[in-house]
Amino acid sequence: MKTINKQILKNGFIALDKSEKNLNLINEIEKLKKEKNAVILAHYYVDGSIQDIADFVGDSLALSQKAAETTADIIVFVGVHFMAETAKILSPDKKVILPDLNAGCSLADSCPDKEFEEFIKNHPNHTVISYVNTSAKVKALTDIVCTSSNALKIIESVPKDQNIIFGPDRNLGNYISRLTDRKMVIWDGACHVHNEFSLEGIIEQKKLNPDAKIIAHPECPKPIVTISEFVGSTSALINYTKKNEAKTFIVATEPGVIHEMKKLSPDKFFIPAPGEDAECACSECEFMKLNTIEKLYTCLKYEQPEIVIDEEIRKKAYKPIKRMLDLS
Ligand code: 13P
Ligand code: SF4
Repeated sequence: MKTINKQILKNGFIALDKSEKNLNLINEIEKLKKEKNAVILAHYYVDGSIQDIADFVGDSLALSQKAAETTADIIVFVGVHFMAETAKILSPDKKVILPDLNAGCSLADSCPDKEFEEFIKNHPNHTVISYVNTSAKVKALTDIVCTSSNALKIIESVPKDQNIIFGPDRNLGNYISRLTDRKMVIWDGACHVHNEFSLEGIIEQKKLNPDAKIIAHPECPKPIVTISEFVGSTSALINYTKKNEAKTFIVATEPGVIHEMKKLSPDKFFIPAPGEDAECACSECEFMKLNTIEKLYTCLKYEQPEIVIDEEIRKKAYKPIKRMLDLS
């Protein structure tokens, strides 16, 4: 185990050993899962091959609900760090592991806890609502957490005359502010994936596919949300494509969701919305894509890297997440 710890310290994950190269990793994962009473939770943005072997695939809200109610001893969180951290905050007695510790989130990183604390101090008597894409330390400074599926409901649960700080996503914050007609003090953060979709590229795709419906995640900037026929969380977008009679959809979120969309509607077409840089696959979240079958196997085998949170912070971060779950 010593060498493995060193490897995690250096790389953030455990590499596959030469002797393991010929294993059928899917079978091995199944075996280990049963032996260890582990559950695999995966987000819609991870590679389709991982979604297919997960016990549960969902959006941030559904995944946190699953993490809170599971009877498994080990939660393998195939997503990004803040999601695994949320699972640990909700289930402190369970071992929560993440295949690669480098799987961070640019949006969570855009809100350092010390600066957020200062921001809150500068706006006294405000209710602090934070998006789930934040570190445990930021959640510990928060009154109520929200996700993209319940942000509207959470804001509406706060009395109209109460001032609100919303962080860290300015696009989601401004979108909800427009929907509810409420002024909020909004932290100036953004996700590098959703912020970089090309409006011109999407309009061009719509010209080529005039019957296609444009659908977007609320982390996208205003011009993209405004031209979209539907705006919602990953699971809301998936449900929309299943229920709507259109045959083609231009999808302005991380293209990993298209795996589930295609599964539910094999006869429909899904066009990933182009990013600003046509040369790269910029609309992919490189953090989500750090999760691989190999790392999932080694993580489950060695039960590392493990999510560890300071108990004081965990207790403080638990309250706003619990408030969100009670309101959802
Ligand atoms: P959802 O809550 O819609 O799953 O979104 C999570 C996320 O990270 C979006 O970028
Ligand atoms: Fe974070 Fe953006 Fe990746 Fe979602 S898509 S996990 S917000 S970096």
